[in-house]
Amino acid sequence: MSSAIDSVLTETRVFGPFERVANNANISGMDAYQALYDEAARDPNGFWERMAREHLVWDKPFTTVLDDSDAPFYKWFADGELNVSANCLDRHLNTPVANKTAIIFEADDGEVTRITYKELHARVCQLANGIKSLGYQAGERAIIYLPMSIEAVVAMQACARLGITHSVVFGGFSSKSLHERCVDIGASLVITADEQKRGGRAIPLKKAVDEALAQAGTESVKNVIVYRRSGGDVEWKDGRDLWMHDLVEGQATSCDPVPVNAEHPLYILYTSGSTGKPKGVQHSSAGYLLSALLTMKWTFDLKDDDIFWCTADVGWVTGHTYIAYGPLAAGATQIMFEGVPTYPTPARFWEMIQRHQCTIFYTAPTAIRSLIKAAESNDEHHPKKFDLTSLRIIGSVGEPINPEAWVWYHTHVGRERCPVIDTWWQTETGVHMITPLPGATPLKPGSCTLPLPGVDAAVVDESGQEVPAGKGGFLVIKRPWPAMIRTIWGDPERFKKSYFPPELKGYYLAGDGAQRDAEGYFWIMGRIDDVLNVSGHRLGTMEVESALVSHPLVAEAAVVGRPDATTGEAVVAFVVLKRPLPQGEEGQTIARELRDWVGREIGPIAKPREIRYGENLPKTRSGKIMRRLLRVVAQGENITQDVSTLENPAILEQLSQAY
Ligand code: WTA
Repeated sequence: MSSAIDSVLTETRVFGPFERVANNANISGMDAYQALYDEAARDPNGFWERMAREHLVWDKPFTTVLDDSDAPFYKWFADGELNVSANCLDRHLNTPVANKTAIIFEADDGEVTRITYKELHARVCQLANGIKSLGYQAGERAIIYLPMSIEAVVAMQACARLGITHSVVFGGFSSKSLHERCVDIGASLVITADEQKRGGRAIPLKKAVDEALAQAGTESVKNVIVYRRSGGDVEWKDGRDLWMHDLVEGQATSCDPVPVNAEHPLYILYTSGSTGKPKGVQHSSAGYLLSALLTMKWTFDLKDDDIFWCTADVGWVTGHTYIAYGPLAAGATQIMFEGVPTYPTPARFWEMIQRHQCTIFYTAPTAIRSLIKAAESNDEHHPKKFDLTSLRIIGSVGEPINPEAWVWYHTHVGRERCPVIDTWWQTETGVHMITPLPGATPLKPGSCTLPLPGVDAAVVDESGQEVPAGKGGFLVIKRPWPAMIRTIWGDPERFKKSYFPPELKGYYLAGDGAQRDAEGYFWIMGRIDDVLNVSGHRLGTMEVESALVSHPLVAEAAVVGRPDATTGEAVVAFVVLKRPLPQGEEGQTIARELRDWVGREIGPIAKPREIRYGENLPKTRSGKIMRRLLRVVAQGENITQDVSTLENPAILEQLSQAY
């Protein structure tokens, strides 16, 4: 385990409670939290049964709660049937929510579109009917490669309505990544757009789909449905490609939701691991939706008149749970934003909060840190210039938030009146796991505080023994929970190996290092594996290395993370070329070429910040690359470790020059 995990906690400030929020919170005060937590701990099955009956609408009620007969392949509510889209839309139709705004969509150029629950339901039904008319059925898989748009939510919900399992691919991923995912899930349908608009630029999407589908292994794809976003030029394959507006034209505005088993895979979402290709994390229908809905009420303390805004992209799990499913199941009004926080100016978020009277704002530390920089260099972009008094709760997700950024967020965005909700969770956990409750938990900057009811989190050593307070260890979840990952699509062995190693007594291994303080608060110390977190995006070092070595010039590559004040981590690549060490200009040119190559292989987010060349990589005598040393070199620090076990100590000097 890296030494960072054992670092001493120095942060001692405590914030809250926040009376304004606590007074009428859904979970008000620590006693209420503790009571709910204890109820779940005493009788987990009874607790989840009660929640599932109270909060979901079932077509066929379940009789079993947890089936652990094939652990770790847990099943929840396994003989029940429901439909996720009906639980997000139809349930509201005969209530006042029907005419409430579901989504306030703000486009890149500022144009605002509102859609009510009733209208959203009709749109979802029309698309579902269109898809049905093409012959698609429950059990098939669809790739969704769409920009942030109402159409993205409609597409996800339409799939859910028909029992079609979707896999959303983030619009920033390359055609190569798209191809891999298409093949892995055996997609029969792709839903995309002509282009996406971000920061004033149009970026082609359909073109990437065409490239992906031109490659072998994608013969299963019968149709590509295209949402016309920009009107930009696209190539067309007759018989395969259909405009979304043509397909939905004249379709009925009602469509019976298909009841599916509680365990039916709602979606597969790819995420990086420490080895191999990205893993297709498979989520269930009932257990997942239940917790998506509950965490809206618990973590965000959602009320009828809230205006909720999660700034994540629907291509990530945060956009699944806290845009496409949770807010809709809860009947919330939410803001959805097409663009980027810095366009046209770095005040865009603050302007939008003011314009739409946002009450709950949920974003990533990277965004906060870059907006701090912008605000401090130009007063016009400072949140103090805007009326942010509508805010009640502000949240953070995706990476550790450093105490300085936390306090700035609390002071300048929350105006010291809003609790900062630092939510720890993962693609695999499906929903929030360890997080403060706004009306209950005293806050400590940099700590995600305490587990939600029903979450049995602990910090353990290599043998699964809990470590004492103040000691670092592995973050584990000791008991299964309803929204948990069900398997890795097509690779159950990898699922078991990655998350339930035998020495950990059947606990779920999160892959994060953590420690608890004397009050039981959790402090996440970062990944314990070879997964990087760049701007809140997960990246496997192996993926970037594979991309690099597939370039004809590259013989060998090792990739590590270096701490970065804005993006959390930055990718540093150490490269051995199949030719002599480049000098000066030439080194720059090759570095540029390699960065672009990685951008095309994976996506721009994976481009190395720095490339360093060596005639070799530092290796032990048994040939193992010493990544620990590379991390030190990447940070520009002097090597203090003993390097006598290295095969080739002189190489470290060479590698310290960056391009
Ligand atoms: C990290 C995003 C510290 C962590 C929802 C985890 C965090 C990985 C936090 C999951 C947080 C997420 N504090 N670290 N509040 N939230 N992480 O799958 O390393 O994209 O394992 O899910 O992000 O990233 P993923």
